[in-house]
Amino acid sequence: MAELIVALDGMSAEEALALVDRVGDACGFYKVGLELYTRGGPDVVRALGERDRRVFLDLKLYDIPNTVAGAVRSAAGLDVELLTVHVAGGPRMLEAAREAAKERVKLVAVTLLTSLGASEVEVVWGREIDSVRDEVARLAELARNAGMDGLVASALEASWLRRSVPSDLLLVTPGIRPAGADRGDQRRVATPAEAVAAGADYLVVGRPVTRAPDPRAAVLSLSEEIAAAGRP
Ligand code: C5P
Repeated sequence: MAELIVALDGMSAEEALALVDRVGDACGFYKVGLELYTRGGPDVVRALGERDRRVFLDLKLYDIPNTVAGAVRSAAGLDVELLTVHVAGGPRMLEAAREAAKERVKLVAVTLLTSLGASEVEVVWGREIDSVRDEVARLAELARNAGMDGLVASALEASWLRRSVPSDLLLVTPGIRPAGADRGDQRRVATPAEAVAAGADYLVVGRPVTRAPDPRAAVLSLSEEIAAAGRP
């Protein structure tokens, strides 16, 4: 069954851990992104581990192979379960990351940031592209060939990606909103049921939980939506 990961964004380490404690046993998996990591550092990851919570460290690594390999080893030493890397770092960087992970941490590849539109991709790559989707498929293929464990994909792209890059890659999907919820700044959103139907393995949800008056109730309700979507 697909699993819920709550993204701990927009708060200090103390606030994040207070939220985790409030949610209690309703959620066992949390995403620590660049924002929280640059505030709380490895201590916040350790504090989650001490609470028996699983960690998705979303650092989107992108550097020379040697440096990325070192960061992957450090993350593995923190008992992180999922870690993101940018496919654009190139095959040698991805292979160095995979080698350093030694199956202790699952590597999830970011193809193109969803904030990039076609014209911006063209400016960055310095060439015309047929479509953003073609570029995502091409980069997903690179990730698969380099032995990555999964891909980050919007729920709206997940089923298409499963078809165009057949594999058993795990799909991690952000941009999830409970049916009828505020979309925040997310343009392309899906409900938990849509994400599950699209083949998502992990659903990443931030603000609908972190800004809810009762975060535990929000998690329980999302979990019920995920469970119901998974039932035949
Ligand atoms: O608050 P919200 O549910 O929109 O948070 C989604 C989380 O997923 C954030 O941590 C955000 O950085 C991340 N994310 C995203 N879209 C992507 C990749 C990651 O929203 N394409």
